[in-house]
Amino acid sequence: MSITSLLPGRLGFGTAPLGNMFRAIPDDEAAATVAAAWDQGIRYYDTAPFYGAGLSEIRLGDALAGRPRDAYVLSTKVGRVILDETEDPGARDLGEKGGLFEHGRPNKMVNDYSADATLRSIEDSLRRLGTDRLDIVWVHDVAQDFYGDAWLAAYESARTGAFRVLQRLREEGVIQAWGLGVNRVEPLELTLDLDEPKPDAFLLAGRYTLLDHDRALQRLLPAAAAQDVDIVVGGPYSSGVLAGGQHFEYQKAPAAVLARVDRIKALAARHDVPVKAAALQFSLAHPATVAAVPGATRPSRIAEDVSALDAKIPAEFWTALREEGLIADNAPVPGA
Ligand SMILES: NC(=O)c1ccc[n+]([C@@H]2O[C@H](COP(=O)([O-])OP(=O)(O)OC[C@H]3O[C@@H](n4cnc5c(N)ncnc54)[C@H](OP(=O)(O)O)[C@@H]3O)[C@@H](O)[C@H]2O)c1
Repeated sequence: MSITSLLPGRLGFGTAPLGNMFRAIPDDEAAATVAAAWDQGIRYYDTAPFYGAGLSEIRLGDALAGRPRDAYVLSTKVGRVILDETEDPGARDLGEKGGLFEHGRPNKMVNDYSADATLRSIEDSLRRLGTDRLDIVWVHDVAQDFYGDAWLAAYESARTGAFRVLQRLREEGVIQAWGLGVNRVEPLELTLDLDEPKPDAFLLAGRYTLLDHDRALQRLLPAAAAQDVDIVVGGPYSSGVLAGGQHFEYQKAPAAVLARVDRIKALAARHDVPVKAAALQFSLAHPATVAAVPGATRPSRIAEDVSALDAKIPAEFWTALREEGLIADNAPVPGA
């Protein structure tokens, strides 16, 4: 089932960076960034327990406190339970993602996709967010980047645990929608092949961007569109490198990625197109993608996101990207 009637627009705000993803952000800067999103009319906010072991949820909840709850849409995630017990945040095993959130809260995080953990995680998120309901719940990171070869075992646990609980909560009207929130296409392809349970949408991060979209284009996006399962694009700037930042895949961008971004930048300069606008609009041009949730830690980024969405991009720019092999031949482009 589509989530378009639920979403208040195509631009949301992703609050992973507010969990102190790459650096320790002062509370007032985090609050000002959410306030900027609100002031710019953004009404869809995505968070997760994982983002700083609860820090992003706490900051988002504080920043939205006092706003009418019906005026915005909130998504968070399940799959990791945050304990009161503490650990060294820099020593966590996060697969490919290394020391992500080492500046976040030191609370211990336990991977758990069971039914009980899902319900507990939702209760904990409601408390941290200071709200009485969630609109969308994503099953978080059941994929190769966090579990390596054991990802299918994690997926199976989620299929028989979290998926069923979330489907029931959706049927009972406790939540409006559910799906998976991942950085890889394979768990989503697998989920579309299930007869039951059926998700409403997916949050797919980093795999439908200007830099990386071939695989999702082949099978996932057409299959999702055919089943009316919407895609929310996470990380439309490939974790920063497409927006002027240094990161790709949550690590320092490697030389080959920087070289590709430089080629995109050169064409963008020739056609007077901001790369950020090209990145955001490309991610949203596919009929299966219904919204994007860029992240940020600085209030000024939000106005950039809004301008990026509205920027006029000449068709010749997309043709040039295609001719240079920088986007797939069959990738839909804005305005086409
Ligand atoms: N598994 C999942 O479900 C999953 C995975 C990944 C992402 N997501 C969702 O997608 C959201 C967005 O992903 P993301 O935040 O990782 O990546 P992103 O939106 O691709 O990029 C955000 C980064 O771009 C940087 N940036 C923006 N404008 C910039 C500029 N003008 N100059 C330099 N840097 C700039 C921001 O830096 P500043 O911090 O300096 O503003 C921020 O670090 C997340 O917050 C989360 O909600 C979900």
